[in-house]
Amino acid sequence: MTMTHQEPLLAIEDLYAAYGLSRVLFGVSLQVDAGECVCLLGRNGVGKTTTMRSVMGFLPPTGGRILWKGTNIAGWAPHRVARAGIGFVPEDRRIFAELTVWENLDVATRAAQRPGEWTIEAVYDLFPVLRELRNRMGGFLSGGEQQMLTIARTLMGNPELLLLDEPSEGLAPLVVAALLNNVRALKERGMTILLAEQGVDFSLALADRVYVLEKGAIRHTGPAAQLRDDEGLRNRLLSL
Ligand SMILES: Nc1ncnc2c1ncn2[C@@H]1O[C@H](COP(=O)(O)OP(=O)(O)OP(=O)(O)O)[C@@H](O)[C@H]1O
Ligand SMILES: [Mg+2]
Repeated sequence: MTMTHQEPLLAIEDLYAAYGLSRVLFGVSLQVDAGECVCLLGRNGVGKTTTMRSVMGFLPPTGGRILWKGTNIAGWAPHRVARAGIGFVPEDRRIFAELTVWENLDVATRAAQRPGEWTIEAVYDLFPVLRELRNRMGGFLSGGEQQMLTIARTLMGNPELLLLDEPSEGLAPLVVAALLNNVRALKERGMTILLAEQGVDFSLALADRVYVLEKGAIRHTGPAAQLRDDEGLRNRLLSL
């Protein structure tokens, strides 16, 4: 892919979304540049998942634009969004419990609609634990291993942008640390990442920039380093 001019890879502009009559997003705007890791930070129920579901086309927005390399993809069907290069790692880690790790990845390879660099060997290099566990059934993996497999499976689709929805949720601190290293390695390979998190530690360790979401609207945006260094600001924004 060649960028002919500088534009963000993803630009969400004034996004509104609702579940029926229940309105959830009220004019969310955010940008992700190629190669960046951007974190959407916010507490329970503020609309992080809804923002990602809107981008993926699972919940067509009621207003606003979602520009992917300058094209408005708002309302596109999920498979079309995926084919355009956006991969989604949902928070509920849906892997096949009855299939082995390798079979889970093999299924994802066959389903991939985009050609690209990711092979099963390449994801084993990124997540060496998955190579060790390649013959284990998905249902017998720990939470952290399932999270790694979910990310790995999404990579098999060769996305240019990865939407990672609360990857550290429910994981023990040691497992989170391992996952953090994996995702950092992925970032260092050049992957562009939009991360949704409640946990400041995980997100601030990875993110270049942060958007803090509150009740369906962006309350703050800035470099992650600013939030890392300013405890007062962090407490005001996130009441931790
Ligand atoms: N399928 C749904 N139908 C109706 N309301 C929903 C649905 N999914 C989410 N909501 C509501 O939309 C709001 C935003 O939810 P969302 O899941 O986007 O938040 P979140 O920031 O991802 O939270 P969490 O950190 O708990 O994952 C919440 O008030 C939630 O109750
Ligand atoms: Mg969520």
